[in-house]
Amino acid sequence: MRKSLMLASAGLLGLLAAGPALSAEKLTLYCSAQEDWCQLMANGFEDATDIKVNMTRKSSGETFAQIKAEASNPKGDVWWGGTGDPHLQAAEEGLTESYVTPIRGELQDWAISQASSAGDRTIGIYSGALGYGYNTDVLAKNNLPEPSCWKDLLKPEYKGHVQMANPNSSGTAYTTLATIMQLFGEDEGFEFMKGLHKNINQYTKSGSAPIKAAARGENTIGIVFMHDAVKQAAAGFPIKVVAPCEGTGYEIGSMSIVKDGRNPENAKKFYDWALSADAQALALQVNAFQVPSNKNAPTSDKAPDLSSIKLIDYDFAKYGSSDERKRLLKKWDDEVSTLPQ
Ligand code: F6P
Repeated sequence: MRKSLMLASAGLLGLLAAGPALSAEKLTLYCSAQEDWCQLMANGFEDATDIKVNMTRKSSGETFAQIKAEASNPKGDVWWGGTGDPHLQAAEEGLTESYVTPIRGELQDWAISQASSAGDRTIGIYSGALGYGYNTDVLAKNNLPEPSCWKDLLKPEYKGHVQMANPNSSGTAYTTLATIMQLFGEDEGFEFMKGLHKNINQYTKSGSAPIKAAARGENTIGIVFMHDAVKQAAAGFPIKVVAPCEGTGYEIGSMSIVKDGRNPENAKKFYDWALSADAQALALQVNAFQVPSNKNAPTSDKAPDLSSIKLIDYDFAKYGSSDERKRLLKKWDDEVSTLPQ
């Protein structure tokens, strides 16, 4: 009896000693790209490394706010995806770690300049141009003309037919706000946002929601990144994609390591893996039509061709700075979102 008790407790001690080795390696991933791609990246990394990933998808502005709120007790390890502006703001506010990846040489210049401008606290993982898409059936049913410019969206006949996200939560919508400022200047730009507000049927939380609603026939025009509109068209919905005639802004979708995260080594492993051509090629499995930052990763022939779109020289340093982002969002809250429709 005594002997078997001793054996049992020795076994227990052995198990306890082996505890750390048995407990699975893990990583908490905050993801701000599209849900299906986030899930695929989490699964792909688990398969490649045996590191268990706990992934949550939230929009870019929401994730920034969460990382900031958790700064004294960080819970996330890596923030993957989402527009670059809030990643730059997080870098400036010291919420993310500086890290230089060994595969930097495989990356496009725009991905590296994003890193260089932020002391290597973030890096570009994809890029994509802003625009809008509309449901051709719903447009025709309502006898509406086909829009092709930003300013077309101000026409009174589109009242209740346009949807965009809220720029506080969504990086897509913040890119829209910053693009309009850069295209038309601040005074005219805010007049544009006020005019647009009259036609908006809903400000959604997530950036791609307006085009998903248009695909389902619950909305007519959605202001989104063009790749999100192409995704709906590729799925067979009657969505036409527009690169606005005045020109348009674009994003450098980014990735950052959360400062003082709980699994710093695994964060670096994910970071390097996510920049590899193989990991970036996963995008095609979920019809994610952004341009990848690894030069050796394939780009779909359905992806919007950025060289054929009139792109503005988007000022990431200015619109990704903490003061400017806060100021513009407050001004939009105070002067646009509160207006009657
Ligand atoms: O749906 C994909 C995507 O458009 C990314 O290209 C972009 O970085 C992200 O969503 C922005 O999402 P949100 O506007 O919800 O922050």
